[in-house]
Amino acid sequence: MKSEGSLKLLSPAKINLFLQIIGKRKDGYHDLASLFQAVDLCDTLTLTPAAEDRLESSDPQLPLGESNLIWRAINLYRNKTGLDVKLSIALKKCIPMEAGLGGGSSNAATALWGVNRLLNGGIDDAQLMAWGAEIGSDVPFFFSQGIAYCTGRGEQVECLPSLWHEAVWIVKSLPGLSTPEVYRRLQLSKLRQKAPRSVLESFLIRKPIYFNDLEAAASELLPELTTLKKHLQSLGFKDVWLAGSGSSVIGIEIPGRSFSIEGSFVRRCLPIYRSPQGWYEFSATNME
Ligand code: C5P
Repeated sequence: MKSEGSLKLLSPAKINLFLQIIGKRKDGYHDLASLFQAVDLCDTLTLTPAAEDRLESSDPQLPLGESNLIWRAINLYRNKTGLDVKLSIALKKCIPMEAGLGGGSSNAATALWGVNRLLNGGIDDAQLMAWGAEIGSDVPFFFSQGIAYCTGRGEQVECLPSLWHEAVWIVKSLPGLSTPEVYRRLQLSKLRQKAPRSVLESFLIRKPIYFNDLEAAASELLPELTTLKKHLQSLGFKDVWLAGSGSSVIGIEIPGRSFSIEGSFVRRCLPIYRSPQGWYEFSATNME
């Protein structure tokens, strides 16, 4: 396949403004209801047609072989379309791993969108979103415009207009957590019953209810999470909750207050969006 040039794309993290677990399914997954938001903590992916496949990463910890979700995405695209292009891919990693921020899923979605754009493959976003679900439950979300109400195992994506404008602080100071392990620990009988649509409504009327049903299970596996949360609360953060399946923690910004924790990943983040024709880009707000 003939194509020229490179494509450099942002690959943003996601946060779950709320994450409610509905129940366990026969296929082993859990049905959930969650408001996903893309934020301006971004990896960068550069895709270039090449003679051989090659992936290089700024993070030496990242496995670069076939198990990497970027190759899962590229191989899926090649299998579905029959287009046989080889790619050299450079990944600049900024999103912490095993943090519950969807970094791997975002990289996969970005690779899928990018290879299609690079080759002028003509596959539309709805189709790419459906293919993304074959890679992982969080991948389809990234084909929204940046905010979506997601159900099923996460792959049923209801796109929403931008409705949430807060700044958050994301903190990762603890070892990573494995998503399947956190789900295995979950005690469904202990979860509060809530009507997910009414939680979504709380965001629409600007009285947001932030929570994550995976928090108790994650804190059992990593008790220091409770200490970290209390520490953030003692600094004045009112809304503090677990990111995805952990192990990072999110707090809504206290205006005018900046902070750091020595030796920890601490970042202030804002929402980020994409246009229907393009991929994610920093806006003037993100650049402030
Ligand atoms: O879909 P993904 O590969 O990201 O999921 C990783 C693991 O997380 C699954 O194998 C499952 O154990 C758990 N999971 C779940 N319910 C979901 C999403 C993930 O139980 N909705």
